Amino acid sequence: MQSTPNLDQFIPEPITRVAYQGFQESKKVFGFVHKLVSDRLTNTLIPEQASKSQPLDPEVFEKLQLKLKALEEKDWQDAQQGVYPNSLLFDNPWTDFFRYYPEVWLDMFKIWGRLEKKDYQSFDAAIDRVGYPDYYLQNFHYQTDGYLSDMSANLYDLQVEILFNGAADAMRRRILAPLKQGLQVFSSVPPQQLRVLDVACGTGRTLRMLRGTLPKVSLFGTDLSPAYLRKANQLLSEISGELPQLLQANAEELPYLDNYFHGLSSVFLFHELPAAARQNVINEAFRVLQPGGVLVICDSMQAIDSPDFQTMMNNFPAIFHEPYYRHYITDNLEERLTTAGFTNIQVENHFVSKYWTACKPES
Ligand SMILES: C[S@@+](CC[C@H](N)C(=O)[O-])C[C@H]1O[C@@H](n2cnc3c(N)ncnc32)[C@H](O)[C@@H]1O
Repeated sequence: MQSTPNLDQFIPEPITRVAYQGFQESKKVFGFVHKLVSDRLTNTLIPEQASKSQPLDPEVFEKLQLKLKALEEKDWQDAQQGVYPNSLLFDNPWTDFFRYYPEVWLDMFKIWGRLEKKDYQSFDAAIDRVGYPDYYLQNFHYQTDGYLSDMSANLYDLQVEILFNGAADAMRRRILAPLKQGLQVFSSVPPQQLRVLDVACGTGRTLRMLRGTLPKVSLFGTDLSPAYLRKANQLLSEISGELPQLLQANAEELPYLDNYFHGLSSVFLFHELPAAARQNVINEAFRVLQPGGVLVICDSMQAIDSPDFQTMMNNFPAIFHEPYYRHYITDNLEERLTTAGFTNIQVENHFVSKYWTACKPES
């Protein structure tokens, strides 16, 4: 088992800060260059793809840069204030990066094939598709086999970091402070008896962060994809601490008792759900949370948050296959949370993501 080095103890803060800035900068440049090359290749091979998106004004790029800087500053400050250890700022799946980055390029050929044919329901014949909701059986982002193959799971984290220019993990980490704060209601409960569930945990990135932040708490993760859960199990086995309990489950029907969890998180799920499923997931979150429990959702920013980024939000579903995104960006999640019974709803925005923190009232 690999234990995370305690950087906080040995390295002076200014050095850690410069290292963090350098790390983020290198991920940004890497993501930017990758996208520049892959977009040029895609637009050359499939010329109609270029006409699907609108160019962004230079001021939008400038605003994005500022928002990214603010996100990184918040990430740094949360670590300095002890929300999580500095080591989390540097956590990166390096082995997978070197092993699977060439596959990201090889997979582009398959993606181009599907893009050209507008085929977004293509799965390997060996994949068992029985029992999944129809909305799930799609190639989101035109990714090969959707969420249902081991290769898709191996490439996923890398693809997401590239998509967000290296900011995906910093955005995920923004759920940690409100979740930790919300759990303070249960300060009389020993940490080992606290239960926190990450809904649609994917490859377990958020669970890794939760383990670093809440080392003693009992962690749980659910997802519909057996391949992503296998990957999560592999990645979570590498770190110290108790292994989170992983379960294959539809977030609309969580296989847990009422009032079971003290905290719940969900990252980058809601924009991939049809409207009715979004409400069902929120209702389920309410059901399985204890009175006083806290839910933190992280997903894309919405239309209401920034008219400046409207073109970017329009481009996203036009370029990638994201069938529910257009509705998602106009959906009122505060209303959905209230309908389910949640109170104390707080909303925050960081970079291109949005966060809802909500509490189940104490009876
Ligand atoms: C965009 S990924 C986000 C994964 C992860 N939370 C992250 O931060 O990277 C969406 C995830 O939601 C899962 N998913 C989609 N619909 C689901 C549903 N109805 N129930 C459970 N998981 C679902 C997918 O399998 C996938 O792992």
